[in-house]
Amino acid sequence: MKTLLTEAEIHTGVLNLAQRLSHRYGDTPLTIVGVLTGSLVFMADLIRQLHMPLRVGLVQASSYRGAVTEHGELAINTSWLPQIEGRHVLLIDDIFDTGHTLAAMIGELTARHPASLASAVLLSKQGRAEVALRPDYSVFDIPDAFVVGYGLDYNDQYRNLPYVAEMEPADLEQGKSEVPNDE
Ligand code: IMP
Ligand code: MG
Repeated sequence: MKTLLTEAEIHTGVLNLAQRLSHRYGDTPLTIVGVLTGSLVFMADLIRQLHMPLRVGLVQASSYRGAVTEHGELAINTSWLPQIEGRHVLLIDDIFDTGHTLAAMIGELTARHPASLASAVLLSKQGRAEVALRPDYSVFDIPDAFVVGYGLDYNDQYRNLPYVAEMEPADLEQGKSEVPNDE
């Protein structure tokens, strides 16, 4: 595994995003909605740099994408989503890859009539998008490689690494999984 982003680089990037969000929202109350499970670490660090009145909600995405392959059928669980009608909402995810997850989540949230909706991701993978939309905020652009750490997993491992690392292609199994994997 090769380190792609160090702890220090991630910290600086998250601070920078927090400044941009503070500039945008000021003291406006904000609801941050994180996509389980990959956004947990990013969300935990980001919210501690934000000072407007803040609520946190969660949605869960799982898919049959296998460990690394193209996006499979997506299942969304909104049981932990608070009321967002009339609220300013910021959707947070770990990585924008094909974009299907973000597009589906934006559909789910828009249908609940928030006052505004924006999206932020830690990472955007270059050259992989299969949807027209892009996240409003993206902290780092990364090459098309499979990455782990800082919330991102490979077969549900490595989410706890404090940095982002690139997996060696030889260490990755291909193919779709039989069961849905938590994103
Ligand atoms: P998308 O729907 O293809 O944009 O995929 C988004 C989800 O796939 C992310 O929230 C991650 O859970 C997962 N994902 C995509 N690329 C990677 C990666 O390189 N490492 C780990 N997870 C990834
Ligand atoms: Mg994820």
